[in-house]
Amino acid sequence: QSGPTGCPISARAAEFDPFSDGYQQDPPDYVRWAREQEPVFYSPQLGYWVVTRYDAIKAIFRDNLTFSPSIALEKITPTGPEANAVLEQYGYAMNRTLVNEDEPAHMPRRRILMEPFTAEELKHHEPMVRRLAREYVDRFIDNGRADLVDQMLWEVPLTVALHFLGVPEEDMDTLRRYSIAHTVNTWGRPRPEEQVAVAHAVGNFWQYAGKVLEKMRQAPDQPGWMRYGIRKQKEHPEVVTDSYLHSMMMAGIVAAHETTANATANAIKLLLQHPESWREICEDPSLIPNAVEECLRHNGSVAAWRRLVTRDARIEGVDIPAGSRLLIVTSSANHDDRHFADADFFDIRRDNSSDHLTFGYGSHQCMGKNLARMEMQIFLEELTRRLPHMRLTGQRFTYVPNTSFRGPEHLWVEWDAARNPERQRP
Ligand code: HEM
Repeated sequence: QSGPTGCPISARAAEFDPFSDGYQQDPPDYVRWAREQEPVFYSPQLGYWVVTRYDAIKAIFRDNLTFSPSIALEKITPTGPEANAVLEQYGYAMNRTLVNEDEPAHMPRRRILMEPFTAEELKHHEPMVRRLAREYVDRFIDNGRADLVDQMLWEVPLTVALHFLGVPEEDMDTLRRYSIAHTVNTWGRPRPEEQVAVAHAVGNFWQYAGKVLEKMRQAPDQPGWMRYGIRKQKEHPEVVTDSYLHSMMMAGIVAAHETTANATANAIKLLLQHPESWREICEDPSLIPNAVEECLRHNGSVAAWRRLVTRDARIEGVDIPAGSRLLIVTSSANHDDRHFADADFFDIRRDNSSDHLTFGYGSHQCMGKNLARMEMQIFLEELTRRLPHMRLTGQRFTYVPNTSFRGPEHLWVEWDAARNPERQRP
């Protein structure tokens, strides 16, 4: 078998399947062979070139003209005519936001919309995040066991995302269903019979997003990033377009919510699998910020991202023709020994943890990274202080099959409630 450039395809490249359990359970381990022997390979099953090493991936992020982000939100599994007809029936028109916008349109938009992400502005959200974290822990602290995903980590980042965007809270449950459909629709491989159900959810999500946006336009002076965009549209209508606002209203919820929920679930799982590290952060919370970075590196919530090759290019000595699609496995870059010493080793004191590529890199690097970090730090502060004796329950972790967004669907933990520190205090 040979690839699009006539090069032979190795057996492992032919077998590569990012929807398989091997990739889902541990993406960097699944492509270890590639990182070591064939760092850039063509996947005939996916129709993408797969890139696995740190330096190459960073160079791709750096050059967003040769490597366009325009396909970042494109469906990785094209849907059939039936699902497409359903989407059309809802007027589904998801288009460019920021993450998939090319230059020269992208940078002016990013600059205009940046202010709500500054440290100064983010400080205002901190009390809300802490209050929510405390309320959710209150609900289960006496139970001795909890599924942290279902009972905290899914809903709190969703509520934070809604507050940040300025969306009313009353539609949370509906959104929860819709947003997961968006992930499957974009990065998953739904079976034909599932595709239609997913298309209905995505269509509803799209229409709901449009309605919320209209509500916001009626009261544009209220808080939130979406209304900030609505106000900026008045000054720069050609930069902050209607299509942008509607698309971001939907994509923004997923960008801010699932990424952070999954990142925190991955982090807690990893820390509890390394009880020594967990004990250390319980005893010394000042270690938490770097522990968060190391968790994002070792087991981040975005496993891979995409770029479109706009002109003939060479990556790690492999010629890649214009028009090719790239799957850049950032989680593999984060385990590249060429950049991180003994990269598989989990070390909350590692001095270059924050070099990880989980937030991307360069001109499109995640705008919400400091909001996500703040949330993760607060969740860990609250859990280590109130449940230092928590441990993982025996369980098999499952993941929603897709190339990019990754976190366990459930995270069961247990503890002896009689030993809760707040019961011991006078
Ligand atoms: C872009 C990951 C949380 C908003 C991105 C990108 C990644 C990413 C991989 C693409 C970067 C690139 O192409 O170089 C994550 C992860 C998060 C997270 C792992 C949580 C742990 C958030 C939050 C928000 C957010 C909380 C808040 C709204 C955005 C936006 C962009 C983006 C607006 C587009 C930036 C641009 O293209 O200029 N994120 N994200 N993200 N993210 Fe995040």
